[in-house]
Amino acid sequence: MADDGAAFAFTPAQGIAGQSLWDKVHGPLPAVEWRLAAPLIEAIDALKREKNAVVLAHNYMTPEIFHGVGDFVGDSLGLAREAARSEAAVIVQAGVHFMAETSKVLCPDKTVLIPDLAAGCSLAASITAADVRLIRQRYPGLPVVTYVNTTAAVKAETDICCTSANAVQVVEWAAREFGVDRVVLLPDEFLARNVARQTRVGILAWRGRCEVHERFTAADIAEMREAWPHAEILAHPECPPEVLEAADFAGSTAAMSAYVKTRRPRQVVLITECSMADNVAHDAPETEFVRPCNLCPHMKRITLQNIHDALLHGRFEVTIDAAIATRARASVQRMIDLPPPAAPARYDLIKARHHVDVELI
Ligand code: 13P
Ligand code: SF4
Repeated sequence: MADDGAAFAFTPAQGIAGQSLWDKVHGPLPAVEWRLAAPLIEAIDALKREKNAVVLAHNYMTPEIFHGVGDFVGDSLGLAREAARSEAAVIVQAGVHFMAETSKVLCPDKTVLIPDLAAGCSLAASITAADVRLIRQRYPGLPVVTYVNTTAAVKAETDICCTSANAVQVVEWAAREFGVDRVVLLPDEFLARNVARQTRVGILAWRGRCEVHERFTAADIAEMREAWPHAEILAHPECPPEVLEAADFAGSTAAMSAYVKTRRPRQVVLITECSMADNVAHDAPETEFVRPCNLCPHMKRITLQNIHDALLHGRFEVTIDAAIATRARASVQRMIDLPPPAAPARYDLIKARHHVDVELI
């Protein structure tokens, strides 16, 4: 039921028109939920046309959002690039708040909506702009690279942003550009540790953690290997280094998705947020997905219903102080202007050239 009281009814026409979409989502989505989802998807499509809006959907959105209403889907880097290119008047961010801020930073003249303002991120919450200013005082002359999972205010204090798809490339660019051999990489401790193993550049790190990926352990991987000896295990670089060492492959959400689609493993485990497997499954029908995963409570705040309501009521609009937005844009744009990686970066901790760890700030 929409919050304005109008009930959406499932019609036979939706059943036919939605057949190809149903084919994509029917594994994870029970038929009874599809009967609720189909009319909402149709209503969202109509609102998108009416308002000249697009939906940017992260890989962690549930399948009915990802396949049903996402005009652009992908990882943080891909969505930031799409926001920068978009010609729509309105962007609805089906993701978390820092992603919506990134879109607003890149598109100051567009209306950017986030369907639930409480869709946060433990990494973004782990550091403030004041923290970054203190770090700069303590390490003068060192470039500060921040993960895109930060607030616009934090991005405004930094030299360049990165995502897990390009962190090694960005850290090496920053060291070259500043003529230094050490770089500050904020705020994800585990991403920093995993990057440190792939580069000769020294890394100073913060103690931020992703509440979803920090819960995976090397013991979990060992148990999975025992239970599913033929499964290939793919992990996100926000996991602890011991998890990446025990996995067969590590990379951003886009890199994991590309791995499954191109290598088509017989059995796979994705060590990341639960919806990833649901979304990739459609493109790899012959792959069996073993599903130990952790839910991101923030990503799961976004629903078809609140995307619909966001479009209908123009809420919740993301605004950023103009001076902060200008400085944050420089950091994000510097990242976007780097040549796109030929393929999303992979983290190979087994073959890593270096076993140098980070220095914690
Ligand atoms: P990606 O950049 O790999 O999409 O990851 C974003 C994120 O929030 C992972 O937890
Ligand atoms: Fe943040 Fe982790 Fe959720 Fe990604 S999965 S949005 S890093 S809390």
